[in-house]
Amino acid sequence: MHNPKTDLIWNVSLVCPSDCSICCVDAVQPRKKAGGRVELYRDEHRTPETFELKQGENIFDASAHYLQHKGEELTLAEKLRVLDNLAGNDVRLDLSGGDVLIVRENLELLHTAARRLGRENITLTATGVGLSRVEPGEVAPHIGELNFTYDRSDAYDNPHRPQGYAPGNLKRAAEYHVLGVKTRAECPLTIHNVGLDHLTALFFDLHKRGIEKLLLMRLFNVGRGTSATQDMPTPRQYREAIDHLRMLQARYGKPVIKLQCALRFFDSALGHAENPCDLLHHSLGLRPNGTLLLSPWAINGLGQPLHDSMVLGNLARTPLKELLESEKMKALRGKLDVNFGHCKIHALFNSRRANPIDRLLDTTDPLLTQQLVATA
Ligand SMILES: C[S@@+](CC[C@H](N)C(=O)[O-])C[C@H]1O[C@@H](n2cnc3c(N)ncnc32)[C@H](O)[C@@H]1O
Repeated sequence: MHNPKTDLIWNVSLVCPSDCSICCVDAVQPRKKAGGRVELYRDEHRTPETFELKQGENIFDASAHYLQHKGEELTLAEKLRVLDNLAGNDVRLDLSGGDVLIVRENLELLHTAARRLGRENITLTATGVGLSRVEPGEVAPHIGELNFTYDRSDAYDNPHRPQGYAPGNLKRAAEYHVLGVKTRAECPLTIHNVGLDHLTALFFDLHKRGIEKLLLMRLFNVGRGTSATQDMPTPRQYREAIDHLRMLQARYGKPVIKLQCALRFFDSALGHAENPCDLLHHSLGLRPNGTLLLSPWAINGLGQPLHDSMVLGNLARTPLKELLESEKMKALRGKLDVNFGHCKIHALFNSRRANPIDRLLDTTDPLLTQQLVATA
């Protein structure tokens, strides 16, 4: 059996110019106010924090420094220490956010990460706004792939995203494609974008721009998306969406349709020698303050870990090898296949068990249980 790399999804910064209502990381949007004040919004329902902008500072760098001062984000020196703490592990790093490039010092992190791990082991997940603030030449030679969200074609409504978000992401990603960087669009499927006419338009937007891959994802009711359950498609809608996009791929070639781990068992329960759910086994989430989680999706409505039992430790302070070898994690690793095929995060939210780890390991992923009901 091959030994795949560990995917580390690193939400480097919380700072983001977009205020997506479903944001799984509960990112922070800075807004400049009169008198040199900056207000930081997590979402419209929470009171913003305020701080004074120093002369000459831009609001995004200043916001990151403010959060660093509060211990919510790592300083540049601490971020570089995280890279030291990956030594001896075969890691593939996704630098994500928030909007990682909106904070200037993260370019240095990107360059150092690429030098140490090799650019082929670095993906960048960024938005059009972040990408517009750097020269492509500062980024393109240092990444193996650019990932960006594209979940709405221009003429269609998407209640989850700010105006111009998806087209802005695509415009910048297309520039990287022209430079020879591999590109992957990411689309969390919802009842708002799963219509077949819309998916046809979305496919051709990507096709025309030469984007190589389209990753179909599930919506997670985590972070600011905690009430997103009602926006999740039915098994039938997922099936039709996947089949339709594959039909377009067969005819037109690109983008190639990929499925997120949480959709793979639904798509085909047969033929999985390994559990498609790679939580903890081959995939981990790193929070902006260095907290290592057993999944990047294990985040509650206040941007905190879903539960202490899902925290491995702090990767700015402790080597990854040590965190993975804790007795707690070793015990959990031995049980990961008890709900083979189920998305553990979705299982957790739909389980009635009391203990969070027991819920994670329950056979309650609604996409699979609903599918059984639908086919009975
Ligand atoms: C956390 S975002 C970070 C990068 C950047 N802020 C962006 O907008 O793409 C990483 C991926 O998660 C997706 N995402 C965000 N919130 C989500 C949610 N509640 N459920 C599923 N996917 C989500 C985004 O569309 C993107 O594909």
